[in-house]
Amino acid sequence: MPHFDPLWTSTRIGSTELPNRVALAPMTRVSATEDGHATDRMASYYSRFARGGFGLLITEGIYTDTAHSQGYLFQPGIATAEQADSWVKVVDAVHARGSRIFAQLMHAGAQGQGSRFVESTIGPSAVAPKGDQLGFYRGEGPYPVPGEITPEQIEQVREGFVNAALNAKAAGFDGVEIHGANGYLLDQFLTDYLNQRTDQYGGTAQNRVRLAVEICRAVRDAVGAEMSVGIRISQGKVSDYTHKWAGGAEEAKTIFTALAATGIDYVHTTEYRADAPAFGEDGDSLAFLAKRHTGLTVIANGNLDEPEAAAALIADGQADVIALGKAALATRDWPRRARSNDSLDELDGSVFSPIADLKDWELEPSV
Ligand SMILES: Cc1cc2nc3c(=O)[nH]c(=O)nc-3n(C[C@H](O)[C@H](O)[C@H](O)COP(=O)(O)O)c2cc1C
Repeated sequence: MPHFDPLWTSTRIGSTELPNRVALAPMTRVSATEDGHATDRMASYYSRFARGGFGLLITEGIYTDTAHSQGYLFQPGIATAEQADSWVKVVDAVHARGSRIFAQLMHAGAQGQGSRFVESTIGPSAVAPKGDQLGFYRGEGPYPVPGEITPEQIEQVREGFVNAALNAKAAGFDGVEIHGANGYLLDQFLTDYLNQRTDQYGGTAQNRVRLAVEICRAVRDAVGAEMSVGIRISQGKVSDYTHKWAGGAEEAKTIFTALAATGIDYVHTTEYRADAPAFGEDGDSLAFLAKRHTGLTVIANGNLDEPEAAAALIADGQADVIALGKAALATRDWPRRARSNDSLDELDGSVFSPIADLKDWELEPSV
């Protein structure tokens, strides 16, 4: 008898059938070539999670255009046809092991700290993200103050996401996840203290979510119903872990309702603890708020390392799929082990040291 039953039933996200409800969370590993091509090492790294039983893999954040979207040196891109081609071997390796794979499309905005295209960053307003750049992605010192994005650049950002989504479709990905979380560009628009605009993209929550809504709709329309489309949403950020939406549950309702109206298939919420109240001491989790206000498939992420907690979230109807980050790095076959109630491993911190790039021992020799 399998353990933790709710995790192992098949489900569907838009047009994508998943063999189970355990997904690999997106994780940047800065291991592409300098010009943003996915490598054989990356194919090997991802295919190991597929072999370990993850029904869905969401890639690391992939940059969308050759302007300001790249956030990290050696980050992969999907902005050009050559970059798209380089992903085919990753997609094929994952499919060969029976898993599905979505490309996470990311524009770093003001949280960018390394680009081969430009020296500067852009954001909704000329306000720097809090704190310092990430050392394990080769960053140092405070984030620079971004240039305020112009209307022409907003148009380029939108076109970049659409082009990247079409490239992902050409490469064989089953879906795309628009990165609207963790402090990157679309989340900067959503964030009151980073977005001080007085136009239709600033002020109310409805306005601050507008760019994400426009991009969801444009990507949905471009790729058609045969490719799954979703968005990742969070309150916390790489540069500000504890940030909360000032408008609480009402703001969540506005944001999720607006996103659902774009025709996307799913929302992926990430919180420090996926099952904790989103606001204050009690109340609904962010995943459950997303579920309630969108009626869409919800992927929940955040500290669901224990199979009991992961299965409970699905059994409670708070989410449809759970995504694992650090727990997946600790135990690459987490689904297989959890299903048979085998013990799980501790995370080996050397994965992130001194740079968070792929280590030889993370690869499987057969790919
Ligand atoms: C090394 C590392 C890289 C990450 N890169 C990304 C990324 O590219 N895109 C993203 O949305 N989240 C990224 N995250 C966040 C994870 O997807 C996840 O939200 C976070 O690890 C919390 O989930 P967990 O408790 O299961 O680890 C990253 C996390 C880690 C540890």
